[in-house]
Amino acid sequence: MSTVDLFDQGYVLDPFPVWDGLRENAPVHYEPDTGLWLVSRYDDVRAILLDTDTFLPDNAMDAIGRFSVPTLRVLARARFALPPTLASNGGESHAGYRRIMTGLLGARAVTAAVPMIERVTGECLDQLEERLDADGVCDLATTLARDVPLRVLLRILGLEQAADVGIDTLARWSDASLELFWGRPDAGRQRELAGEAADFYSWLRELVTEPGPAADTLLGALAAHRLPDGEPLGVAESAAVLYFMLIAGQATTRQMMSIMYRRALGEPALWRRFAEEPGSVEPWTEEMLRREPPITTWRRVTGRPVTLRGVDIPAGAPLLLMLASTGSDPDVFENPEQLCPHRSNRRSHLSFGVGRHRCSGAELARTEAGVMLRMTAARLPGLRLADTSTAPEMLGLLSFRAPLSVLVERAAPHPGEG
Ligand code: HEM
Repeated sequence: MSTVDLFDQGYVLDPFPVWDGLRENAPVHYEPDTGLWLVSRYDDVRAILLDTDTFLPDNAMDAIGRFSVPTLRVLARARFALPPTLASNGGESHAGYRRIMTGLLGARAVTAAVPMIERVTGECLDQLEERLDADGVCDLATTLARDVPLRVLLRILGLEQAADVGIDTLARWSDASLELFWGRPDAGRQRELAGEAADFYSWLRELVTEPGPAADTLLGALAAHRLPDGEPLGVAESAAVLYFMLIAGQATTRQMMSIMYRRALGEPALWRRFAEEPGSVEPWTEEMLRREPPITTWRRVTGRPVTLRGVDIPAGAPLLLMLASTGSDPDVFENPEQLCPHRSNRRSHLSFGVGRHRCSGAELARTEAGVMLRMTAARLPGLRLADTSTAPEMLGLLSFRAPLSVLVERAAPHPGEG
């Protein structure tokens, strides 16, 4: 297998042939350019995710490239630090942090949040209609798909009042952080992104030191939390949880919605079916999560030397688990390129991970997708893509892939219609 340029726009636009080639010819493939070991078959990735003693999550939040000295200076001035809390925490404190997330994001909390998600979606749809009336076209990626997940997240974490900087700033800080850690910015861009990430982090440090947060909010839960040694959390730990949550809890869902809106609106018959048969939405979203998830890869690091499919890998080697490739593994999903809503194992995909670190927000993300697609199709059954180019500009970071815009318009009424 030749080298794979994970940042090439051709790959980002259509990565499926590369994933097929990797699974078939080089299921464990060393990529000299990044030093990453790419693992692409479903069974291997699942086994790795479940074996947290051998395959550690410690590198989940590492930047891909090296930071320049000016970048490090900017981050140091903000006292930027991400001690292990959730995704990158292989230690004994992980279970406690995870319990906080289960309380805020578990099935009961998500069910209770459905009326709020519907209300927020309704408000954002009102704004969308106003823009369509005024301008004729609107970009769903920077409006509906962005605003609903962000506003829902702030509500569910009890941060709505605290988030005085506004959702435009939060979204900008989050985008900058994703690119800084999972992209390949040049020196100038890196410095600029670090400035945004530092502003974000400084704001979070202030937030976690404000006295008297309500008990039923994330800030309240962090203030009451005790580490296994009985100590309360330091400012850096609390800020790291918030930093992770305010990015993971909405950027992923926004990307998922951009992918789903683009695909569904590109097939007018499917969009009409969503409007007429709301029950058809959920099975379809699950198949989309399998075939085209927003988080394409996730990392682990070997805790000891291992042999995978005959390939020797040393201790301390960074693995790139090709989550999106596993959803198209024909050994597990028959005719993987087809979206089959009645597929019996459609929830077996690894797009939310599996095991101890499985995504805490999976049910929230699924629920948001269902509500948003159902309500948008019901309100705007004649919505269609305004830009039907087969090559939309894509976000192409190491672990995140989604269209950067989804331009839509109302279909022209048929002759004789109102
Ligand atoms: C489509 C949307 C989403 C996708 C595809 C996704 C995917 C993932 C993946 C692949 C992981 C790593 C799993 C592992 O290491 O085994 C993860 C972790 C996590 N996600 Fe999500 N996620 C999404 C949305 C969300 C949302 C909405 C939230 C919260 C509101 C969230 C919170 C978390 C947390 C807290 C973790 C760390 C769990 C731990 O280490 O214990 N995610 N997610």
